[in-house]
Amino acid sequence: MLNGKRILLIISGGIAAYKTLELIRRLGERGVGVRTILTKSGAQFVTPLSVAALSGERAYQDLFSLTDESEMGHIRLSREADLVVVAPATANIMAKAAAGIADDLATTALLATDKPVLMAPAMNLQMWAHEATQRNATRLVDDGVLMVGPEAGDLACGEIGSGRMAEPATILARISELLAPAGTPLAGRRALITSGPTREPIDPVRYISNHSSGKQGHAVAGALAALGAAATLVTGPSAEADPAGVEVVRVETARQMLDACQAALPVDIAVCAAAVADWRIAAPASGKMKKDGAGPPELSFVENPDILATIAGLAEQRPALVVGFAAETENVVENALAKCRRKGCDWLVANDVSSQSGTFGGEHNTVHLIEGDASEAWPKLSKQAVAERLGRRIADHFAG
Ligand code: CTP
Repeated sequence: MLNGKRILLIISGGIAAYKTLELIRRLGERGVGVRTILTKSGAQFVTPLSVAALSGERAYQDLFSLTDESEMGHIRLSREADLVVVAPATANIMAKAAAGIADDLATTALLATDKPVLMAPAMNLQMWAHEATQRNATRLVDDGVLMVGPEAGDLACGEIGSGRMAEPATILARISELLAPAGTPLAGRRALITSGPTREPIDPVRYISNHSSGKQGHAVAGALAALGAAATLVTGPSAEADPAGVEVVRVETARQMLDACQAALPVDIAVCAAAVADWRIAAPASGKMKKDGAGPPELSFVENPDILATIAGLAEQRPALVVGFAAETENVVENALAKCRRKGCDWLVANDVSSQSGTFGGEHNTVHLIEGDASEAWPKLSKQAVAERLGRRIADHFAG
């Protein structure tokens, strides 16, 4: 859990600085206090105002500014953090840090800090491959600086190769790993959880949905976050509170849920607990449908995408562990085994949602955990306890 941790984020001048804004947002959502230093060239790419708006605190810029220094001296800035992150780290700031040069607020803070430093290099591929940069990177690593990326791919300069800043989600996972307290076996792992029902519109005021409360999915997201995973919860309409330390994305329809899930990839773990509507209205009316004497409307349906099967069937970016849930009213285990195979998931948590079970909206769940061909009956547990037990099983699987 990152909640309550503090990061000093140094933004130096690279086109990747726009991705750093996304990193600030994600850190904020996880309860991390982010203070920022924006270098002179960094401020050419993102404005102090946008950085301040996202971090909730002013962006510090100038070593010789009386206001900056009296408000927050560079020593305090660099010490009052649990971790210093440089993203993007340009060839220039890496060279200066490697040489111990301190000629602005950012490099002075880097020299003054007694905390771990994580750099996310970002530059043109030739600049990254250059002997000087490689020498500096090696020296920084020898000095104890931690690196995340760079990644290979399309670069902003139009060339293709290594030099692209690691994605915000990757940097975030690395940060979670570094700041992970003891007892967080999933630190550094990314998890995606779906939860709640979906709503499929009939017209602007009516929709088709189901009784899912989101309790189980939300509890799973909270349990995985408590074990250290960087968790993203994609949820349909639910009255459940946001679980602590989890990034929450709210959607309404199945198609929106799929889009949000795809945007959250890559992840190590996907747990699909949402009760996704299998069907949607083929052509929702754009205005409210009226009783015009012609009798009840004919609604025609089309099938929604199967989010679990889509994620489990990904050729690239398939999560290492894909867990489904199965809502069954009869032949629970038999149907669940078949469903697990059909949807291509690794595990399936099968629960009895027959009306006498009280599962939908209730506090308890009686489930079977299906792993391949094996099924294990769990006792009647609260949804919270099911989530915690599943979280531990997932952690054991990765410790494995
Ligand atoms: N699921 C999904 N997308 C869908 C339908 C289901 O991701 N469009 C996921 C659910 O989140 C759950 C699993 O698939 O993890 C099984 O859901 P369930 O409702 O039990 O299965 P269905 O596919 O609806 O199968 P059936 O109606 O035939 O029982």
